[in-house]
Amino acid sequence: MKDLSELLQSVPPSATIAVSDKARRLKAEGRDVIALAGGDPDFATPQHIVDAAVAAMREGDTHYPPAKGKPALLEAVAGKLERENGVQVEPSQVIVTPGGKWSLYIAIAAMVNPGDEVLILDPSWVSYGPIVTLNGATPVRVTLPSEDNFRVTQGLLREHVTEHSKVLMVNSPNNPTGRVLTLEEIDAIAAVAIEHDLYVISDEVYEHMVYDGAQHYSLAAEPGMAERTITANSFSKTYAMTGWRLGWLAAPEPIAKLAMKLQTQSVTSAVSFVMAGGIAALNGPQDCVQEMVDSYAERRKFMVDALEEIDGIECAPIEGAFYLFPKFPNSDKNSLELAGALLDQADIAATPGVAFGEAGEDHLRFTIATAMADLERAVERLEKVAPRLVA
Ligand SMILES: Cc1ncc(COP(=O)(O)O)c(C=O)c1O
Repeated sequence: MKDLSELLQSVPPSATIAVSDKARRLKAEGRDVIALAGGDPDFATPQHIVDAAVAAMREGDTHYPPAKGKPALLEAVAGKLERENGVQVEPSQVIVTPGGKWSLYIAIAAMVNPGDEVLILDPSWVSYGPIVTLNGATPVRVTLPSEDNFRVTQGLLREHVTEHSKVLMVNSPNNPTGRVLTLEEIDAIAAVAIEHDLYVISDEVYEHMVYDGAQHYSLAAEPGMAERTITANSFSKTYAMTGWRLGWLAAPEPIAKLAMKLQTQSVTSAVSFVMAGGIAALNGPQDCVQEMVDSYAERRKFMVDALEEIDGIECAPIEGAFYLFPKFPNSDKNSLELAGALLDQADIAATPGVAFGEAGEDHLRFTIATAMADLERAVERLEKVAPRLVA
């Protein structure tokens, strides 16, 4: 048989999906596994959103929709950006996608050529590197210092900029670190992007999950950034809609046009009646979002306090998103070994930090988007195994 794609073979499978699959397998075999490896909210999608999609389907909204998204949804996204983020875009700059991951993919595809470099802040979400590689460009990882809570500075960014740099990918609130970029860090990113004429992808899928007074800033709202920023977002996390596969991006017109070409030549569009759910989500009451965020805040406090009490575990009090990213300073195990030991000895599935890049080594990622009862059981087990794990 002839060779298969070298490009696809060069890209690792998603580590988070691999750990979640293993946990599911062990669960099916009867093991009482606590799944803290995924990124799926444990809440049901709010009822008014479900109702809107069901009504649309019943009313025959089951045909090809406009490939860019229903006009009412494009308008709802533009309205939300202005209202919540201080970002001005025309509905024509918005593309509705089957999921935030696809927004990132078509945005990168619209901008890069072979030889172009895309700066990725390390640690970063597992798919950033592969998305860049699959589009024929080169990911350049900017290692952020774990010892300084993964702070972003102009100096660090400048060290990695070359004449080939074209795009910088930013995610705040961050998966996996839980950091929310401060205004100083946002300014640093904007300054370097403008100075070196870089495009910036601002992945804001966790924008509503911020704690203890932390504030989310949208890069596209910063002076000089609108013309170079692609804002990517999703319904997955904010409205507990991971299975609906619905996201969007807002980009400068020429980028939106090219990204749209890839969407029409590949997946065509997001699902028609799913978009009706999206319109209800953006234009409807937002207290459902606040209720979920309040619950994450409660779980975050419980977990950060509990982990602080366990010898050998260090856990920064995260500012946003819904993951903890503790490290184990006394352990001689790397993060893959730690995750393996935790699954074998305590039936806890966590994601090894190295899955997010070298800067994530020595960390594990635990989701807090899971039931409080599971988090309580996880803490009990961690207390028991920690002396062995961290030795
Ligand atoms: C940082 C980040 N960006 C984007 C996504 C994509 O989400 P979705 O494709 O479900 O919209 C995720 C999902 O885990 C994420 O963590």
